[in-house]
Amino acid sequence: MSESPLVRTASRFTGKVVIVTGAGAGIGWETARRFAGEGARVALFELEETAGNHIAEVIEADGGEAIALTVDVTDENAVAAAIDTVLKTWGRLDVVVNNAGHGDPRFVADMTVPEWDHMLTLNLRSVFVMSRAVWPVFTDAGGGAILNASSITGRMAMFGLAAYGASKAAIATATRVMAIEGGKVGIRVNCVSPGYILTPGFQEFIDHQDDPQAFHDSMANQSALRRFGSPGDVAEAYLYLASDAAAWVTGTDLVVDGGITAGQLPDSDPRN
Ligand SMILES: NC(=O)c1ccc[n+]([C@@H]2O[C@H](COP(=O)([O-])OP(=O)(O)OC[C@H]3O[C@@H](n4cnc5c(N)ncnc54)[C@H](O)[C@@H]3O)[C@@H](O)[C@H]2O)c1
Repeated sequence: MSESPLVRTASRFTGKVVIVTGAGAGIGWETARRFAGEGARVALFELEETAGNHIAEVIEADGGEAIALTVDVTDENAVAAAIDTVLKTWGRLDVVVNNAGHGDPRFVADMTVPEWDHMLTLNLRSVFVMSRAVWPVFTDAGGGAILNASSITGRMAMFGLAAYGASKAAIATATRVMAIEGGKVGIRVNCVSPGYILTPGFQEFIDHQDDPQAFHDSMANQSALRRFGSPGDVAEAYLYLASDAAAWVTGTDLVVDGGITAGQLPDSDPRN
């Protein structure tokens, strides 16, 4: 999936090394591409080998620099080995985007304990495992940026998302704690809370509904801007938070949701 050919319009990350987890699809894919487009060398930590290799090839074909590493980001040893490979390859690390995660809606009454555990492990444990692994690297380097994928579901109750929303709320809290702990050694930690982003995975979920078009439109219309977000909308938030322009920004949660959580539903007032 790619929104448009990679065009070098800026070079905010020239000389920097960036890890993007879950870079084989959706938001992670577009985030990795855009970092590469602005000069970063990008390491793709992806569970699906074929997907990771493919996005690395796409970035290199566009003139960027990327390596794909097949790694389960919930696995402490695999993560340590992959970070070691990045450091041996490029000798530095500047930014980590803890993007890997997934939502599999399940009403509480239908959810099993292993399903709950899996959701928390994938979404939350991965953030801790990755962050703890890069902490000494950033400390020795005098700083670095950690960016975590939260979600508006961490702020707003949504049907079927008890486990997913709980994991995302916890990520926002962990982000703030890591920010106050990391500040003294120059580590900035922020998260992004996307609304509904039309990734291939989300499109597939829509396609499985009884009336996909009606479902699509009702979700799009929950946003003040009356559309889904794109992976690029979220990628740009990560790029800003990783950049020098955000040098004094830490412990924040940047909501990128077209106004879904701003207030009332757009059509809830007949005068609007
Ligand atoms: N799409 C949305 O509307 C939306 C909204 C809010 C938050 N988010 C969050 O943004 C992030 C990306 O969402 P997306 O929709 O692009 O996801 P996606 O499901 O399209 O892609 C996730 C990628 O992560 C990889 N992955 C899964 N488990 C992994 C693991 N253990 N180790 C390494 N890689 C793994 C998958 O193979 C896949 O390539 C997630 O954390 C998600 O919760 C998404």
